[in-house]
Order: sequence, then structure tokens, then C-alpha cells
Amino acid sequence: MFVPVNDLSMFVEDRSAPDDQTILFLHGFPFDHSMWREQLQLFSSEYRCLAPDLRGHGGTVETGQPLSADQVTIDLLADDVIALLDQIHPRQHRITVCGLSMGGYIAFALWRKIPERIGRLILADTKATADTPEARARRLVQASQVNASGPQAISSGMLDNLLTERNRTGIIGMEVRTMIENTTPKGLVNTLHALAERPDSTDTLSTIKVPVLVVVGADDKLTTLQDAQYMLERVPNKAPLIIIPRAAHLSPLENPDSFNLAMSNFLHLPA
Ligand code: MLT
Repeated sequence: MFVPVNDLSMFVEDRSAPDDQTILFLHGFPFDHSMWREQLQLFSSEYRCLAPDLRGHGGTVETGQPLSADQVTIDLLADDVIALLDQIHPRQHRITVCGLSMGGYIAFALWRKIPERIGRLILADTKATADTPEARARRLVQASQVNASGPQAISSGMLDNLLTERNRTGIIGMEVRTMIENTTPKGLVNTLHALAERPDSTDTLSTIKVPVLVVVGADDKLTTLQDAQYMLERVPNKAPLIIIPRAAHLSPLENPDSFNLAMSNFLHLPA
């Protein structure tokens, strides 16, 4: 369904079940809610599952004055999600936030802004640190490639880092390529800016008092096992680290059985 949120018509997949137990799924860059298809299918029998397309991605469109790249930040993406929750989710019920990569960066921002509305946190294939100067420079190069030649200019290079080799050329590879190439050039460029300028969230980690699950694909080269361990060392209330075999950065898509088992075990732990 589409929900008017700030200056957006925001697409959100809202799969029912009683809404006192909700999981909010936040996708990575540059994907959309469908990267969570295997989790939505399983968990919607027991939980209300909300999976929005974040600003600049999927079916979500700007309805107001178009923003320039320097106006788009991770904080703004988090504010969109809060405005969405304000409209469609009862304030008094704490949610589980499950964020992958950029979704994890947004989860940190949500924790800083609305900790009273979060009951658990799942940090998948993400990291707390900000971009290095080299990583920032790479994003600028990517933005200029997209401006010159569109999303196709970066999709093949990205796939190599997102998926294990066996999945790059199969159905999952096609799905991921389609998500990247369906993202508008403006959505890509603006989000690259937001990613490059995101704050370091290391100091946030020790403030997260709710249960946290950290998950990482065994072959993730973008947000590595070391990044996962760095986060885990700093959060006070943590479940054991889960390393997803036969998966790179998009572990929920590449190995849904292992990812879902880890999630399900965590969700059934007493808070
Ligand atoms: C993502 O999957 O969201 C991206 O890898 C995030 C990033 O590039 O930092």
C-alpha cells in the first residue's frame, strides 16, 4: 500500500497478524522491500511485518519539491520511517527493527530518535563505523558514473560484492540486478550522498539496552565479520553472533533458511 509520508508517497508492504508484535524490515542500498521476501513469507504468520521502500527506492516517490543530494541524509530516511510508523503503527507497542546494511545505519538513527518504541534490534550485514575517506571517494565516482550512464553503470560491479559467485548469474542475481537498475539515477545519487555523510554510530552501540542480534554472511566483503564483531563487543544485551554460511552481503536472500532460523530463535528468546 502507499502511505503519504512527509513529501513522499511511500510504498510499504504490510502483512498482517495481530499488530502488537511487529517487525519492521529496512532494506539496504539500492534495493527495496522485496529483498525481504523470504522473511515476509515466514514471519507474517506470527508477526505483523512492515517493509517500506525507503526514500529514493522501489515504489516510493517524492510528491513535493524534489530534494537535492545534500538534503538527503540517513537521519532524513529515519524521519520518513518514523512518520510512517506514526500513521500506521500504534505508538505503545514496541517493534523489532531488522535492518540490513543501510537499513542498519537507519536502525541506529531510529534508536537515537525513538528508543522507547523499539523492543529488539536485528543488525544484519551492517556496520557502525562511518565511511573512510577512500570509501567516500568511491561513492563520488559511483555517483558520477550513474549521472553519466545510469544505474547500469554500477550494477555489475555491485553484484560482485553483494552475492556469492554461485548466485550472481542465477535467479537471485537477476532479481538483485533488477532492483539496482530499477532505482532511479536520482535515488541512487542522493542515497550515495547520504551514505557517504552518515555519522559514526560507535557511541550509540553501548546505549542500546534492548536485545540485539548481529548476523553476517560468511563471505560478506562489504560489511565483514570484523565489522560484526566490532558491534557485538560494544552492545550490552546481545545474542550470540550468527554467521550465515553460503552467503555474502545479502544473507537473507542467499541463505534464507539459516537467516530465518537465527531470527526466529532470537525473537523467541525472553526479552
Ligand atoms: C547496503 O547494502 O546498504 C550498502 O552496502 C551500504 C553501503 O554501501 O554502505
